[in-house]
Amino acid sequence: LMAALEQVDQTYIMVKPDGVQRGLEHYKDLKQKPFFPAMIDYITSGPVVSMAWEGIGVVPSARKLIGATDPLQAEPGTIRGDLAVQRGRNVIHGSDSPENGQREIALWFKEGELCEWTPVQEPWLI
Ligand code: TYD
Repeated sequence: LMAALEQVDQTYIMVKPDGVQRGLEHYKDLKQKPFFPAMIDYITSGPVVSMAWEGIGVVPSARKLIGATDPLQAEPGTIRGDLAVQRGRNVIHGSDSPENGQREIALWFKEGELCEWTPVQEPWLI
């Protein structure tokens, strides 16, 4: 009941690459950065797995699960900390704000591609 009073946010999660080859400009904020061309080569080098997650506080909680940008700084137990080695090959993306979550979900998904999902209320194990 308490949770219902809180803001429900959305975040876009991507197991990288593909993207800018479709003109999606996902990383447009980083266009001026020196690492931009190499990052675009990486992100467009193969298919990606895209997800939209929704929930209270989902942006910071997803980023906590993902870990720091540089895998060498990312904590063990995070996806980047456990599975990635280089900053330029850091395995997974998660939106950095609710506003960017909405923007990125709109970039990557068409109307009707997202579905609501409600967990079953009955326990599977008694
Ligand atoms: P950024 O949005 O700063 O990080 P995050 O993905 O954790 O939100 O940067 C986007 C991506 O750009 C990052 O995942 C990897 C790449 N990148 C580099 O290749 N070199 C860099 O120095 C930085 C800061 C980022």
